[in-house]
Amino acid sequence: MDNDVFKRRRIRYLERIGSDDVAILASAPLTPRNRDVHFPYRQDSDFYYLTGFPEPDAVAVFLPNRKKGQFVLFCKDFDPNKAIWEGRHAGLKGARKQYGADESYAIEEINEVMPDLLVNRERIHCGLGRNPEFDRMLLDWVVRVKSRTRSGIRAPEEFVDMDRVLHEMRLIKDSEEIGAMRHAAEISCQAHIRAMQECRPGLYEYQIEAEVQHEFMSRGARSTAYPSIVAGGDNACVLHYTENNDPLQAGDLLLIDAGAEYDYYAADITRTFPINGRFSSPQRALYELVLEAQLAAIDKVRPGNHWNEPHEAAVKILTRGLVKLGLLEGRPSRLIKKELYKDFYMHRTGHWLGMDVHDVGDYKVDDQWRELKAGMVLTVEPGLYIGKHCKQVARRWRGIGIRIEDDVLVTESGCEVLTESLPKQIEDIEALMEARS
Ligand code: GLY
Ligand code: MN
Ligand code: MN
Repeated sequence: MDNDVFKRRRIRYLERIGSDDVAILASAPLTPRNRDVHFPYRQDSDFYYLTGFPEPDAVAVFLPNRKKGQFVLFCKDFDPNKAIWEGRHAGLKGARKQYGADESYAIEEINEVMPDLLVNRERIHCGLGRNPEFDRMLLDWVVRVKSRTRSGIRAPEEFVDMDRVLHEMRLIKDSEEIGAMRHAAEISCQAHIRAMQECRPGLYEYQIEAEVQHEFMSRGARSTAYPSIVAGGDNACVLHYTENNDPLQAGDLLLIDAGAEYDYYAADITRTFPINGRFSSPQRALYELVLEAQLAAIDKVRPGNHWNEPHEAAVKILTRGLVKLGLLEGRPSRLIKKELYKDFYMHRTGHWLGMDVHDVGDYKVDDQWRELKAGMVLTVEPGLYIGKHCKQVARRWRGIGIRIEDDVLVTESGCEVLTESLPKQIEDIEALMEARS
């Protein structure tokens, strides 16, 4: 993303916090895997959103109305030896020239420099509780300023959780974010198509995971947005199944929940399809029900509707359908009120999507479900899960787990399904699998 994008966001953020406030944000830590090997580094989403700066060991400070500059970045100083062993890094000059910092300091200088930046600031916006060690450092800097108040300066008196302002900004996606999300969605659709094309009985779940991963990587998405779920048969009833190491059986369904992360933005897609390419009749009945619920839920995604409307629509259709098929008994309204559908549908119908797969942003405002607005992105993902040990239903229904998940952008006039290009109608899936070589 262009540096101007981050600059525009900083300007908007600085306008939203008090003119005498300061905001301090730490980069994500580098996490050891073992000895001197680390997990692949991924910048903290809030930090990246405001800076575009991808390195660890950095602290960003935002100071509204500061004459000498409103964006100060502490980071690693340039070290030619480090550049040889560990790779490129911006250094202090790069922090200013490449990333638009008004001032930059070596991270080792932070204890000297930070107290001066806090002088006469009223409140500190920070990610309270995210990193206890950093919280202690913050307190320490404030104590240092306080120790100097006899010289007539004021020290900050309040800590404010920065999530409120920043996460409200992140909830409404700007055009660059929507562009990145479209791209992540398109790569992920291609990966699911490849999985359908490559699926055969006898392969292992991880072999299909490899096909998905191949498509992500070869299209420039170097990471998944979350661990892929590739779950054959009854494994699909484990909602967060990620073992992905069983063989695929003809006659079972395969549920794949996998999304790419592209340029820091996530896709989150689920499709469920028959391993041998043809739905059996109980699979078809349940699949059609989930699809009907999903389409009804998507239909509720439009500005002015509230967050829970898609979920309510999905629950209504699923519950009625389960009664019709004989999996539940009783009046649908009572089953919904008593939440008895939860034996088969135990999760909610979606979540915000963005830089994080379960993205930031409140779902309620003043204790009411919030209104949907253009620029929000959410998933719509109803499902039905009937485990093989579910003795309360006839045998033919058991061992079936189905979820259908798409990524949906709220637009001015309704919504746009970003993952539209991936088939989900039974005849389209069967036709695609029929054409396997
Ligand atoms: N893949 C996680 C979710 O669907 O929420
Ligand atoms: Mn999801
Ligand atoms: Mn998912």
